[in-house]
Amino acid sequence: MRLVALFLFLSFVPLPLYNAHAVEVPSNLDELLTDANIGMGKRKASACKGCHTLGKGEKHSVGPNLWNIVGRKIGATEGYKYSDAMSTKGGNWEVKELYQFLNNPRWYVQGTNMTFVGVHKKQHIINVIAYLQTLKDE
Ligand code: HEC
Repeated sequence: MRLVALFLFLSFVPLPLYNAHAVEVPSNLDELLTDANIGMGKRKASACKGCHTLGKGEKHSVGPNLWNIVGRKIGATEGYKYSDAMSTKGGNWEVKELYQFLNNPRWYVQGTNMTFVGVHKKQHIINVIAYLQTLKDE
């Protein structure tokens, strides 16, 4: 519990530093995803678990459950109360959208409740997205 509190604290503090920067999506993102390290992505995604469940059928937490997230409609999972910013964003969580959001959540969805600084190393974001792609039925 104490770790979660520390994590929440740390994720609040540097937010202003990151709000301004725009995110550039690598043009060969699909290719990079094919070569991604899913195991490393899974490790990095432990940072998401303070606020999200990742397994099929699990309950929403601080954030919505992330099973089947890739390709899912943005801000539209049943039983979760999104911010207005998220529920009116529109579009789907394709890999490009995820890349931008995970790099800088407060820039990509201005007004989001996701108080998380984001994942900043390109290879880490790619690994996390590759891992998120596995969270679905075969
Ligand atoms: C500090 C808590 C917190 C952390 C850590 C966090 N999130 Fe979130 N996340 C949220 C909240 C809250 C929302 C809902 C945001 C809103 O409604 O504006 C959200 C929303 C999302 C969404 C949009 C879901 C949808 O249904 O549209 C995605 C995708 C997402 N998070 C991915 C991640 C990933 C991947 C990580 C880890 C790298 C992560 N989040 C870490 C709190 C968090």
